[in-house]
Amino acid sequence: MKKITIAIDGYSSTGKSTIAKRLAKALNYIYVDTGAMYRAVALFALDHGFVDGEDNIPELIAHLPEMELKFVPNPDSGKSDMYLNGQNVEEEIRTMRVSGQVSKVAAIGEVRTKLVEMQQQMGQDKGIVMDGRDIGTVVFPDAELKLFMTASPEIRATRRYKELLDKGEQVTFEEVLKNVQERDRIDSTRSISPLQKAKDAIEFDNSDMGLEEQFERIYDFSQRVI
Ligand code: C5P
Repeated sequence: MKKITIAIDGYSSTGKSTIAKRLAKALNYIYVDTGAMYRAVALFALDHGFVDGEDNIPELIAHLPEMELKFVPNPDSGKSDMYLNGQNVEEEIRTMRVSGQVSKVAAIGEVRTKLVEMQQQMGQDKGIVMDGRDIGTVVFPDAELKLFMTASPEIRATRRYKELLDKGEQVTFEEVLKNVQERDRIDSTRSISPLQKAKDAIEFDNSDMGLEEQFERIYDFSQRVI
């Protein structure tokens, strides 16, 4: 069976990673969550005091070569965890502290150049499902299957709010909704690689769709191409 590249892009908290992970497992493909990579850079920037309060973007850019990002398989969860300079940061990168800074950091050209190069290397042998904002437009413009996921902001914020509460984070629904909308605004309007649907992507609105139905439909798309 031929191996393909599957690019899944879309707005924040549209459930891209849940579907991408499941699809990768079903196809026995590699799964890469590129949002985790941008989140790790934001954490690096926060921990060094390069953002939040007084931003010092030139210093962040100067220190990028010191930043080592790695996905390491976690046998307990069966998924991969993000490591930043040898430390497992999987939980920390999902906090609101990081969500509040990540889109600003992701708009920096030097950050994108570094991460896009890593992502292209990870996918050079195909057999990969990658999710993010610019996968079908920039990282793999020749991907054989491209999806663009959407859902209403309220539905997305509700899903994200539940996830954060389950993890014990103290947040209000309004804070989460504001963050989701603000990230979408920055991601869609930045000058470099803005979030947009690739011309040949299938738009997929999952506002009123359960996980099972989404998976079946997307799996079906993949089988038509493979
Ligand atoms: O996917 P997730 O919501 O975890 O991504 C966090 C942020 O990382 C996004 O809001 C966006 O600013 C940035 N991102 C990006 N390009 C990608 C993946 C994520 O700019 N390919």
